[in-house]
Amino acid sequence: MRCKAKRLKSGLTVTLTIPLTITTETIHVNTFRRLLLALASCSALLAGPALCRDADNPIPIINFQQRFLPVVARHGMIASPERLAAEVGTQILQNGGNAVDAAVATGFALGVSYPRAGNLGGGGFMLIHLAEGDRQTLIDYRETAPAAARPDLFLDKKGEIDRSLEFFSHQSTGVPGTVAGLLYALEKYGSMTREQVMAPAIALAERGLTVSFALNFEFNSRAEQLRKNPEALRLYFKPGGAPYEVGDIWRQPDLAWTLRQIQKKGRDGFYTGEVARRITAEMEAGDGLVTAQDLADYRVVERQPVRGRFRGFEIVSTPPPSSGGVHIVQMLNILEGYDLAAMGHNSAAYLHHLAESMKLAYADRSRYLGDPDFTEVPVSQLTGKAYAARQRQLINPDRATPSADIYPGKMLPGESSDTTHYSVVDRHGNVVSNTYTLNFSFGSHIAVPGTGMLLNNEMADFAAKPGQPNAFGLIGGEANKIEPGKRPLSSMSPTMVFRDGKPWLATGSPGGSQIITTVLQTLLNAMEFDMNIAAATAGARVHHQWMPDKLLVERGISPDTIKLLENMGQQVEIGNRTLGRTQSIMLDDGWLLGATDTRRPGGWVAGY
Ligand code: GLY
Repeated sequence: MRCKAKRLKSGLTVTLTIPLTITTETIHVNTFRRLLLALASCSALLAGPALCRDADNPIPIINFQQRFLPVVARHGMIASPERLAAEVGTQILQNGGNAVDAAVATGFALGVSYPRAGNLGGGGFMLIHLAEGDRQTLIDYRETAPAAARPDLFLDKKGEIDRSLEFFSHQSTGVPGTVAGLLYALEKYGSMTREQVMAPAIALAERGLTVSFALNFEFNSRAEQLRKNPEALRLYFKPGGAPYEVGDIWRQPDLAWTLRQIQKKGRDGFYTGEVARRITAEMEAGDGLVTAQDLADYRVVERQPVRGRFRGFEIVSTPPPSSGGVHIVQMLNILEGYDLAAMGHNSAAYLHHLAESMKLAYADRSRYLGDPDFTEVPVSQLTGKAYAARQRQLINPDRATPSADIYPGKMLPGESSDTTHYSVVDRHGNVVSNTYTLNFSFGSHIAVPGTGMLLNNEMADFAAKPGQPNAFGLIGGEANKIEPGKRPLSSMSPTMVFRDGKPWLATGSPGGSQIITTVLQTLLNAMEFDMNIAAATAGARVHHQWMPDKLLVERGISPDTIKLLENMGQQVEIGNRTLGRTQSIMLDDGWLLGATDTRRPGGWVAGY
């Protein structure tokens, strides 16, 4: 654990940056005591005026019986998958920007410093809580299918899905929404100019950044596929094709040029003009579908979030065309009928009930979820308490129901490991929870010459053949078939929880189909098991998505528990990979408590 402090000119505020490098299972009680002492002395020494000595601001109440500590700040905070982008956003907050300004600046900066998922060529969802007016809104900047897209786009002559076409071709690219979405958010809810919020990202791309362990790891893990595309090879590897090593300086002049076009001309700098011309030229060269007209036609949609209640908490999350919010609320409704706390955190009984509710929700996902502008999604039924009560009847508390015996529910009358999330809170109490993606890490792995940007492969989130699994093994139905102008069904779930009417928690995760269950368990850890946000983040996770009939279990669930689960009929698979990677902030009594998920390298919480 390291603490870094920076005095501002005024001498009044302090930046406290504590990357949590505590690994989950290994921490010993004495180590924990030493860490507590380190935190206490660090806070007192470096952040004394802000954290300790102000009689009006006693230190925040953290449950010190837990083995994990959140990062603490007073005025503003960002939890991000990458350090440089977190620092960009925090600087914006300290310069007087609000949470939306900081979120937009962080979004553009991640496009430079976190190429596996930060992007200009993808899309996502931004959930905003506005302190003024005490309301929430959702900015949907999901990609759309090009006008030329057809339901059989990825089927070969025999009617089978051609996976290489679906995952790594120009046809796999949807019309990008990120630039339009970030600019929409800035213009409507931000307080700074494009010049101000984009300057740090442009500087990072132009001057270059020092390659971190995490970035080196990301380049290496996708090197084989990236090297197949000449432009990606030029962008992400040294001349001659060797990977950038830790400590090397990596510059992106083409990306800086693209960012400058956007900075000068706004959305026209991306969706029309020279950047658009370069995108469409690449599309034509690779038989892609996105045309100049598709780019010019791209529209952001502002939507009402999905809402639900769990005990005394209000949940606000992402509506269709994401399935995330609907199913988080649906599963919480089902689980509310049980005394989960009495079962015990990550006990066999608890995990069994989680798994059974996950199966029911993902079965419904396969039939009912799609773009609400194309298909009627029964959101109020799926998120209703009455429907949950009926679904609860289907759960046998002692025995797993085979997935083959579970069908999408009848309505009552009346989606790897990719994508990325960050959370922001400002001094006014505005909160932003943003998840955006290229779909796979590095998307289609195809870069557009002269722009420094990658093309997404979001079209793979459609049901290429209704009834058959997609890239994340998710089965989709007619509601998610490919249609021109339609948004592919997502699992992205930027989410907030409100307690006593006030924002209490902002979180979200990458992970494709595992996003929804990752967010669900983070919420339950905090709401039901009273964990601080660092402990809630660290707890071992499970995942079931109905089909295939497998309960994925992270390492950290005990062998005894696994045996009990298997005795109940759960088909347990102990994962070689971790599930999700949250970036969360809890707002507690005037304090900001942040946690980056240590399941992947490079995350950072910055606050002041
Ligand atoms: N591409 C991952 C998702 O939208 O869920």
